Amino acid sequence: MTDTKNHAQSYLRLIEGNRHFSLSRQIGDPEYFKRLSLGQTPEYLWIGCSDSRVPANEVTGTHSGEIFVHRNIANVVVHTDLNLMSVLEYAVNVLGVKHIIVCGHFGCGGIRAAMSKKSFGLVDKWLRNIKDVYHLHQAELDAIEDLDKRADRLTELNVMEQVRNLAKTKIIQRAWHTKKDLHIHGWVYGLNNGLITELNTIHDEKEDIDNIYQYDFDLD
Ligand code: CO
Repeated sequence: MTDTKNHAQSYLRLIEGNRHFSLSRQIGDPEYFKRLSLGQTPEYLWIGCSDSRVPANEVTGTHSGEIFVHRNIANVVVHTDLNLMSVLEYAVNVLGVKHIIVCGHFGCGGIRAAMSKKSFGLVDKWLRNIKDVYHLHQAELDAIEDLDKRADRLTELNVMEQVRNLAKTKIIQRAWHTKKDLHIHGWVYGLNNGLITELNTIHDEKEDIDNIYQYDFDLD
């Protein structure tokens, strides 16, 4: 193993880890990479936090090829985010994923930052989306005195709101309109126990989405 005490060289353990990964996958399955290189047919799109402690495949016991992944600070779905919307469109229209999962996590630094009045720079503009979620549920959140518990609840409310934000997109509504089998799930992950809790699920455009957000495809 490389001497990782030298920080400038610490990246080398990733290269070594990669060599080990490549060899270990091929033991007993020499066609593993050949098979993967032919294409991907993941059934799931994961929208999670960038936090290093919540890796989509690892926490769900899945492997390469199984989950299409998008991550950003505090797992936010913003309808003007070209990055996320491109991922969403590809996942739904080309890959044909059946389940989209928004997964937040307790102990999220983005959520805590959004709750404070401190400015953190450019990320303030991103965290504003979470402040808006707080504002929607201000009475409930203000009533929780313990700040950790309040942050945990905001984490849950944020996930549920981002699930609704997905359901408000034309990409998702068109999929439902054309009778695609597509379900959007809100989950929260516990850093303290490694467990996922299911919060909410939306199965079609009539569910939990205000009328003003519902597209009428007859008008297209
Ligand atoms: Co986070």
